[in-house]
Amino acid sequence: MTSSPTEVITELADALKEWLPTQRWFAGKDRAVESVAPVQAVSLVDGDPALVHSVIEVRQNGSSDRYQLLIGLRTELPEHLGHAWIGTRAQLACYDATQDTELTGLLLDLIARGESLAGLDFQHEAGAQLESALKSRPVGAEQSNTSLVYGHHYILKLFRKLVTGTNPDLTLHRALQRQQCEHIAEPLGAIQGSVDGDDVTFGMLQRFLPAAADGWAMATASVRDLMAGGEKHPEDVGGDFAGEARRLGQSVAEVHADLAEALGSGSEGRELLESTVDAMQRRLDAVLAAVPELSAHEHGLRSAFEAARELTSPIAVQHIHGDLHLGQVLRTAHGWVLIDFEGEPAAPAAERLSLRSPLRDVAGMLRSFDYAAHQLLVGYPGGSEDQLTERALEWARRNRDAFCAGYAEKAADPREHAVLLRALELDKAVYEVAYEHGNRPEWLAVPLSSIARITGS
Ligand SMILES: Nc1ncnc2c1ncn2[C@@H]1O[C@H](COP(=O)(O)OP(=O)(O)O)[C@@H](O)[C@H]1O
Ligand SMILES: [Mg+2]
Repeated sequence: MTSSPTEVITELADALKEWLPTQRWFAGKDRAVESVAPVQAVSLVDGDPALVHSVIEVRQNGSSDRYQLLIGLRTELPEHLGHAWIGTRAQLACYDATQDTELTGLLLDLIARGESLAGLDFQHEAGAQLESALKSRPVGAEQSNTSLVYGHHYILKLFRKLVTGTNPDLTLHRALQRQQCEHIAEPLGAIQGSVDGDDVTFGMLQRFLPAAADGWAMATASVRDLMAGGEKHPEDVGGDFAGEARRLGQSVAEVHADLAEALGSGSEGRELLESTVDAMQRRLDAVLAAVPELSAHEHGLRSAFEAARELTSPIAVQHIHGDLHLGQVLRTAHGWVLIDFEGEPAAPAAERLSLRSPLRDVAGMLRSFDYAAHQLLVGYPGGSEDQLTERALEWARRNRDAFCAGYAEKAADPREHAVLLRALELDKAVYEVAYEHGNRPEWLAVPLSSIARITGS
């Protein structure tokens, strides 16, 4: 490589402008990319292939975000890496190095050895004995970051959109590990560094759970069983999910208790309620302006939010998961595991790190049960009297109840805070309306029908 790593990224800027919006993890797909520039770039491997680690600043609509890139450079790009190509400069093919097993092995080896290289700290957790020299493969699932699985042992998440400070995913996993929490995949290491003098987490290594089943896949399989069962009710079909939903509720409550014990908790009153409800109303204003179908429910939504403003008892707050849904839980032979404690990638970092009501996580999971129940009916013309719709509603009710009942076995019953829980659930549903409107219009009926049902409007 004759030019410096920073020059390489600068010369790739135009190609990156095209490439970024094609990446699942790129958070700014809804806005044009104005410019891409390197914030920093270092060489991790010199040779052919070469490896450059970089942080880039992406400007869109006057604001900017920072992303992590691992760029590989080769004189000749082999066919199996064709899909990773970004651009060619100075006769070198530049590509997404996370897809190149010849380069990614180094990341695990550096973590195993606990080395620092080019300003990056590759660390393993105290006592973790790591096997190195394993080949990686990328995780195929839809995701907001890039995760690599090494053998059957480890999974390394490379954070794409960067936040200042230690990533909450790492902070919360470490805290839960200190509590010996059974409901997480053990954190084993991290890649830390700094950008403009601030600490930044670039990666997190965890125990890979090879035999785990995805909660969303399990729940939707159960719904499919029910739909195929004709006249049968959820409790009578083989794939009933209620037992799992109950155990999931228990597990989430245990994770909440461990987070509170490890990182503290508090109690908030008027001020939190005011700011929470104000934020809900503001979101509603914005979504109403964009989605006319929502206006029929405006009154019902506003009154549900205002009812939360009137609450007088204090609200328990603590660190929470922040983006909990059925796609963020895995079922292992020993029970449920929660993954991905990064919080909502779109939310500002300060919000993600603040103490919040654990009912937010409960509301997220309740919305997810609704989605799982209704996703098979997307595009299906049946009305509310229809048998399949009835079955979907029954499934959702049964599993939402089972989840809350399980939670209540280990902590206070979330249903005792019905007014706040309802407002939080509706706020999530309003967010979903905006998302579906922009991305999957045929799904819009899922959150809209939930809002109609919950508000009675
Ligand atoms: N410890 C693990 N064991 C097995 N699979 C995992 C593990 N952690 C994550 N996964 C898989 O990788 C996917 C992405 O992980 P996640 O932490 O949710 O990353 P992202 O931040 O990109 O959403 C998950 O949906 C799951 O399928
Ligand atoms: Mg995730």
